[in-house]
Amino acid sequence: MSLTRNARTTSEEPVLRRAVCPGSFDPITNGHLDIIARAARLYDTVHVAVMINKSKKGLFTIEERIALIEAVTGDLGNVKVEAFHGLLVDFCKQRDIPAIVKGLRAVSDFDYELQMAQMNIGLTGVETLFVPTNPAYSFLSSSLVKEVAQWGGDISHLVPPPVLEALSTKLRQQ
Ligand code: PNS
Repeated sequence: MSLTRNARTTSEEPVLRRAVCPGSFDPITNGHLDIIARAARLYDTVHVAVMINKSKKGLFTIEERIALIEAVTGDLGNVKVEAFHGLLVDFCKQRDIPAIVKGLRAVSDFDYELQMAQMNIGLTGVETLFVPTNPAYSFLSSSLVKEVAQWGGDISHLVPPPVLEALSTKLRQQ
């Protein structure tokens, strides 16, 4: 793991560069995984923050989502997966994370993402860095994956194998 000096630090003490990839991850897709893996090449530690949304019942529980993300990011070696509730900027402040990394799939994502990025920097100064999504995944979302899987469509090229298996088990149970 490389240690780099943080521009905000005046002492000579090296600090870890941290970033967060937030989302609902219900479930994680190859599009999410691509962004997390690219962030993991740029930062010492990438925190994957799984949002707890009590008003929206997901297909997978938070614990199941975390277990799947851990299973598919374990080989990266510098990814830490945690649930969070409340403001993302508070999650960042508590862990001294200065940057949020988000994938941008298309122009349609930009409008809302820009609003959130501007709100977040205004709240606590946390920066947002946008990474262009791999064009192979520009149409991909967890919702579409669930819908296609529900009707028996092939999603094996869109999600990692553990997610494919978990999805078919979950849908069989329903
Ligand atoms: O995968 P999603 O559902 O598109 O992720 C959205 C998420 C979790 C990144 C966003 O809703 C978020 O950051 N929520 C945390 C609450 C918060 O900080 N809201 C203010 C945003 S400016």
